[in-house]
Amino acid sequence: MFPKKLSSRITAWVMVILFIAVISLISGANWITKTFYQNHLSNEVEARIVSHAHLLEKDVQEHVIEYIEEIEVGKSSHLLILDSNINVSYQSENIDETILHHYQSWINENQDRVEGVEDPFLEHVDTAMLFHIPHVWSLMPIYNNDEITGYVFLDQDTGDLNQAQIKLLYLFAAMGIITLIIGNIFTIYLTKRISKPIDHISEMTKNIADGDLDIELQVHGEDEVGRLAANIQSMTKQLKDYRDSRRQFITHISHDLRTPITYIKGYSAVMKEMPPDKQNEWKRNLNVIYQEATRMEHLVSDLFLLTKLEEGKIKLNIDTVYLPSWVRSLYESRMIMFDQKSIETSLVISKNVEDLTIKIDPYRMEQALINIIENAIRHTPNNGKIELSLIKRENEVRFAVTDTGPGIEQKALPYIWDRFYKVDAARSQNDSGTGLGLAIVKEIVEAHGGYVSVESKLGEGTTFSIHLIIHGTDGDSND
Ligand SMILES: Nc1ncnc2c1ncn2[C@@H]1O[C@H](COP(=O)(O)OP(=O)(O)OP(=O)(O)O)[C@@H](O)[C@H]1O
Ligand SMILES: [Mg+2]
Repeated sequence: MFPKKLSSRITAWVMVILFIAVISLISGANWITKTFYQNHLSNEVEARIVSHAHLLEKDVQEHVIEYIEEIEVGKSSHLLILDSNINVSYQSENIDETILHHYQSWINENQDRVEGVEDPFLEHVDTAMLFHIPHVWSLMPIYNNDEITGYVFLDQDTGDLNQAQIKLLYLFAAMGIITLIIGNIFTIYLTKRISKPIDHISEMTKNIADGDLDIELQVHGEDEVGRLAANIQSMTKQLKDYRDSRRQFITHISHDLRTPITYIKGYSAVMKEMPPDKQNEWKRNLNVIYQEATRMEHLVSDLFLLTKLEEGKIKLNIDTVYLPSWVRSLYESRMIMFDQKSIETSLVISKNVEDLTIKIDPYRMEQALINIIENAIRHTPNNGKIELSLIKRENEVRFAVTDTGPGIEQKALPYIWDRFYKVDAARSQNDSGTGLGLAIVKEIVEAHGGYVSVESKLGEGTTFSIHLIIHGTDGDSND
């Protein structure tokens, strides 16, 4: 039955409540004024009739009657003076026969009520109209030495007061209507103010659900609605980032997979037609196929590892490692890689690391360090230099790999750890790297509670570092 829109519902409720309140107020005010008028009038009539009866106590003389007539001038009243047998001895001019008859029968009926009583008898007669204040009919005996010698009767018309009261009622009603109108306008304005941004948000969230993630919510402010809009905006941004990175991810993977697949397909197609006696060409082609298959295998296993690391699903096999010897053996096992490009290498281990043990997953940490070393070798020209160092400062130990490669420009540095990021995509097109290496390094190091950093100068070289935190139990004897 009620409207569906929140604003209309609130307005309807407010109007119902306002209406009830206004009607109750008007009725209350009307009742109070009516009672007040009636009491006031009754008191006045009572005072007048008592005073008339007193004046007539001695005798019903003409000058007394004249005096009483004067008092009654302009009072909209009818006056009767009667003897003890209810015969009229005086009646004011404005009384006609019919009404006199009514008066007399009323006096007969109520005569008993005033016998032996000091106060007059008052009755509100005529209840025909809803807001009409009835006439007040009043009867008072005239005493002489405790004997009733006659009666005074007064019919007070209440028309003037009634008019005044009706005017007041109109005033209340007008005020009530104005209150309702102002209340209505104000409620509509207020609910619109509240519901407009909500409508906007609801429309926008529908667009978001339909896939439009570029929307800007036009709702600002510190209140609940403003905060809701801000939260939706930031949620949309996250969704957009997620969607973009997923698209990018799929583009990268399909690209990186397509290259080796094209090679494998092409070479195997050639080989299908190749005579079996061409031993050397068979070997060369098979070699290419093997290399490309290996590249695919690396990509897939790197992706698998990275996804697991990002989801925190890789369980680290933590072991206590004696740091200097672990680094030395790793360095020596990779010597052959340096030698291939005649790279000059050095390993620097600072003195305070000599006895240091640390709790790491040696297999994963080696994987991280090798990734950095491989990058350094890949980017360092023949006869360049690579330095590995292990330094301890306060409660932190740092592995650093410094090369004399081309360096990385500053603006690229923040993205270097992102998956698939390559500094110069065009240049690295033929490069076998997938851009996952550093992302894996970062994940492994962070899983150990450490962090990574990079410093670089174009044309001079780059230093990649892995920082690990040493906890008290790691056996730091020099500090
Ligand atoms: N030592 C370095 N000197 C200069 N640029 C580097 C160096 N190390 C990394 N980069 C740049 O950072 C990019 C990302 O490195 P990352 O190791 O993540 O990927 P990749 O080496 O290209 O591929 P992957 O390691 O997965 O085989 C590289 O493509 C390269 O442009
Ligand atoms: Mg790499």
